[in-house]
Amino acid sequence: MDYKTRVRISTILIDEKVTPGTDVTLLGWVRTVRIGKAVSFVEVNDGSCRSGIQGVAETESHPELKTITTGASVRMKGALVVSEGKGQKYEVQISSIELIGAAPDNFPLQKKRHSMEFLREIAHLRPRSNTFGAINRLRSKLAYGIHKYYQERGFNYIHTPIITASDCEGAGDMFRVSTLPADNPPKTKEGGIDWDKDFFAEQTFLTVSGQLEGEALATALGDIYTFGPTFRSENSNTSRHASEFWMIEPEMAWAELEDNMDLAEDFLKEIFKFTLNECSDEMEFFNQWIEKGAIEKLEGVINNQFERLSYTDAIKILEKNSDKFEFPVGWGTDLQSEHERYLTEQVVKKPVILYDYPEEIKSFYMKVSGDGKTVGAMDVLVPGIGEIIGGSQREERLDVLVERMKKKGLNPEDETYQWYLDLRRFGTVPHSGFGLGFERTLMYVSGLSNIRDVIPFPRTPRWAKF
Ligand code: 4AD
Repeated sequence: MDYKTRVRISTILIDEKVTPGTDVTLLGWVRTVRIGKAVSFVEVNDGSCRSGIQGVAETESHPELKTITTGASVRMKGALVVSEGKGQKYEVQISSIELIGAAPDNFPLQKKRHSMEFLREIAHLRPRSNTFGAINRLRSKLAYGIHKYYQERGFNYIHTPIITASDCEGAGDMFRVSTLPADNPPKTKEGGIDWDKDFFAEQTFLTVSGQLEGEALATALGDIYTFGPTFRSENSNTSRHASEFWMIEPEMAWAELEDNMDLAEDFLKEIFKFTLNECSDEMEFFNQWIEKGAIEKLEGVINNQFERLSYTDAIKILEKNSDKFEFPVGWGTDLQSEHERYLTEQVVKKPVILYDYPEEIKSFYMKVSGDGKTVGAMDVLVPGIGEIIGGSQREERLDVLVERMKKKGLNPEDETYQWYLDLRRFGTVPHSGFGLGFERTLMYVSGLSNIRDVIPFPRTPRWAKF
């Protein structure tokens, strides 16, 4: 069979590269069929864009129409004509329609509204629905937009390891990678597990962040970014946490916290601009069906300066409103998502960058400030989501870093940290970077409120199906 003659529906409807009157061959999946006495209608969608194209045929001269059902894959041939019907530009006057793969009545995606919960159970079929077609196309295009942003600015794309012996965030929420038998691992003389017998002869995990390795590359190439999968075994069953998610982590040598904040703000604005320009088909869909005002929201972000607020000032605001929160708030506490959302949604009503956090609540690698109490950390919070970016200026002074590690209960003599400390021993430079959660960005852009719906096959506690 010759499939090469097919025309994508996006070529017709978005790119407008086919003139009416041309014979076209469409390959796709049937969304709806209406068999009338005289005339029948078949709507075919091929996943290349939001809309399908309706084919029209005389019922009597096409007995094969009887085999065509919702969900079936078909080859539809005919002349493309300007449609007189409402809400569609073109239709196809069917010359032939051929069933490729049948879909019996039990095809789960019949034309009706399905709940998001039900669609998660059929994650293998949900990409054929409007919402999941749109989010998966958006995911692809935005990934390209992000690469474009960094490549055009001279940042080098780095592949950091997925299996690692370092615990970047020090939070202990890591998935172990091991080939030792789980039921009877080899033991040391002291009775503990003998990791020396494991595959890598040491304990290894799936990475929670590519940052530490990213720093090694930034302190050689200047500006780098990573864009890869990261894994966290934290048992947070929320709409904003996934156990496997993608992160974009730029790292810049010769950059301080303010440069980092400038990059974060510019980066978000530029990728939102890219989205509005290059993903208009998807954004119109989200704007109409998922979050009314989604387009205006992005325009607002692009055209306004982000608020910048120190942690200390943020705490003062929150303390004045403490009666509104479930969790207590005070200087030194980690902000809960209710606090973050209150700041961005109720106080500043736009994205806000919080900076200079208490050193006790932040990771070991962050730059110690002159006040001895805070570190040069920054988080970007956006309405509806909360934290979307976390980053910092890194501690580049060897002696200060070593002291801070000790304070955090890490052993700076430990073999695993030596390469990281070498970056400070040899030609150290001020450097900064951050991590943007790709799924949280997609949630913000599309208005989809659950992280499980912006990644094709989500992994969350007690859920690794597909
Ligand atoms: O704030 P985090 O933990 O920062 C780091 O990992 C740093 N090493 C990044 C760096 O400085 N290079 O995570 C960064 C971002 C968060 O702001 C959030 O958007 C996302 O990653 N994120 C998650 N997204 C989905 N599910 C989770 N469980 C997430 N944990 C973090």
